[in-house]
Amino acid sequence: MKRKWWHEKVAYQIYPKSFYDTNGDGVGDLRGIIDKLDYLKELGIDIIWISPIYKSPFVDQGYDISDYYAIDPAFGTMEEMEELLAEAKKRDMHILMDLVVNHCSDQHEWFQKAMQDPDGEYGKYFYIMEGKEDGTPPCNWRSYFGGSVWEPIPGTNKYYLHMFAKEQPDLNWENPAVREEIYKMMNWWLDKGLSGFRIDAIINIKKDLTFSDLPADRDDGLAAGWKMLEHASGIEVFLKEMRDRTFRPHNAFSIGELFNFKAEDLENFIGDDGCFESIFDFSTTQVGMCDEGWYQSRRITPNEYRDIVFDSKKTSCNVGFLANIIENHDEPRGVSRYIPEGECSEMSKKMLATVMMLSYGLPFLYQGQEIGMTNMEFESIDQINDISTIDEYHVAQRAGLSDKEALKAVSDMSRDNARTPVQWSAEKNAGFTTADSTWLPVNPNYKTVNVETEMQDENSVYHFYKKLIALRKNPEYRETVVYGDFLPVWQEQDRLMAFYRKSSEKTLLVIANYQKEEREIPFAHRVKAVLLNNAEVFEQADGKAALRGYQAVVLEVE
Ligand code: GLC
Repeated sequence: MKRKWWHEKVAYQIYPKSFYDTNGDGVGDLRGIIDKLDYLKELGIDIIWISPIYKSPFVDQGYDISDYYAIDPAFGTMEEMEELLAEAKKRDMHILMDLVVNHCSDQHEWFQKAMQDPDGEYGKYFYIMEGKEDGTPPCNWRSYFGGSVWEPIPGTNKYYLHMFAKEQPDLNWENPAVREEIYKMMNWWLDKGLSGFRIDAIINIKKDLTFSDLPADRDDGLAAGWKMLEHASGIEVFLKEMRDRTFRPHNAFSIGELFNFKAEDLENFIGDDGCFESIFDFSTTQVGMCDEGWYQSRRITPNEYRDIVFDSKKTSCNVGFLANIIENHDEPRGVSRYIPEGECSEMSKKMLATVMMLSYGLPFLYQGQEIGMTNMEFESIDQINDISTIDEYHVAQRAGLSDKEALKAVSDMSRDNARTPVQWSAEKNAGFTTADSTWLPVNPNYKTVNVETEMQDENSVYHFYKKLIALRKNPEYRETVVYGDFLPVWQEQDRLMAFYRKSSEKTLLVIANYQKEEREIPFAHRVKAVLLNNAEVFEQADGKAALRGYQAVVLEVE
C-alpha cells in the first residue's frame, strides 16, 4: 500500500450551523470556525471537513446548493472563507469542503432554466422523463426522504428525478456538459487552497438507466430508490475521470460517502489506484435498520458491533484506509447508540473512543464527540428540524403508532441528535451563542458535558481523546498505530473487544470490556507499558487480568 500525506493525520467534521456562533443570530458561522481553530489544533486535529456552507435554501441543511461559487450569508462571506483557509494553513491544518454533486437545489440556475424549457440544453442537466401511459410516474422508486423520486413538471406529462427531497433534483452525470461544470467548480475551489472534498451521496450518481419498477417494500407500493444501485454499473468511469481531472493534479484528499456498495469493489474505491483516497466506514450504522422505517429498527448489540468493526478492518487492512467514525451529522450520537441503554458513562464513552481511535484507518471525529455529547431527549416533534426525521415520524404514525410512540421511535435515530449546538461552556445556551434562542435546542446536559468544564478536568472524556490522538502521533508508536496490522483476539468471549496492532518493531494490545460488569480474562503477556487506561489500574497476575466494567486499556506487550 502506498503511503499518503494524510495517513498519519486525524480528521474532524464541523457541522457549521451548530459549531460556534459569533454574530449572535443563533446559527454557527465561519468566523466561529476561525475562532476555534486553536482549540482544534490543541486537540490534535489536522484535517477539517466542513458540511456545506454554499448558498442554499436549506431544505436539507445546505445539502441543496443553489450556487456552488458563493458562501451562504448565514455563514459569512467569501473573504471569511479565504481567511479561514489562510488561518488553517498557518497552523498546518487542512480544510475540506462538502461536494454535493449528485443533486443541486431546485433554486439553482440550471434547474430554473430546465423548468422553463425541459427539452432544452438545461433540461439535459437533469433526469427528465415522461410518465407511464396511465399517467403515473416513470417508475416506483421511493426517495430517501419519502414519497416518489419523481416530481411532475407542471403543464407537461414529464417528471424530474430526485433521489432525496423534491427540492434536490438529481444532476445528470451521463451528460458530459454537467461533468465539465462540476470539475470546473471543483478546481476553482482547489485552486483557492482547499485540501480536498468530502463527497456526498456519490454512489447515487450512476443510475439504473432502465428506470424499471422494483418489488414494492412498503404499503405505498414503492421500493427504496437505493435498491436500483444493484442494477447500476460503471460508476468508476465517472469517478476516475473526476479524480484525474481534479483531485490528482492537486494532490488533494477525497473521501466518499458511500453506502450500498459491493464488498469486492473496495479495492476499486480505496486501493492504490482507487477512485477515492478514503471512504467512511458505515458498517455499524446499517445494523438493525429495516425496510419498514426507523420505527422498526433495533439496536446493535456489543458483540455485533465488535464483529462488524473487526470484519471491516480485516477486509480493508491491506487495501487502504477506511475513515473510522462513531457518528456524523446524519447519525445519532455514537455513545447513545453503541453503548447499551442505561450504561452510558465516562468510562464507556472512553472505551468506545479507544476502540475507534486505535482501529486501523483514519480517525474522523465529529464535533462534540471529543467531549462525549449524547443524544437529545426531544419533547415534541416541533423541536425537530430534520427533513428525514419528520418523514420517518409520519411513516411511524401511518403504521399506527401514537404521536408519543412515533416521537420515541424517531428520537433514537434522528439526525438532529448530532446537530444540536456544540456545548462550549456551562453558560447560557452552552456558550454557543449570545442569542436568546438557537436554531436547534441545546441539549440540557450542557451544564456538565461541555468543553470548558472538561478542559479543566484531567480525567475528562476530552482529555482522554486528546491522549488517544497524542498516542497516534507519538513518534515511538505512530508506525504501529497508523500502519500496524490489525489482529482481533479473544473474539469468542462475550462482550469483549480486543485486538493487536502489530508492526515489525512493536506490538500493542487493546482490550475493551464492553459491559458494565467486571470480569477476568486469561492473560499471559508480559506488559512493557500501559500506554492508556480509562481506569485507575490494570491488574494482572498469575496468567489472568482483571477488568472493571467498561475498562479499556492500550498495552505495549512483548
Ligand atoms: C448525504 C448527507 C446528508 C444529506 C444527503 C443528501 O447523505 O450527508 O446530510 O441529507 O446526502 O444530500
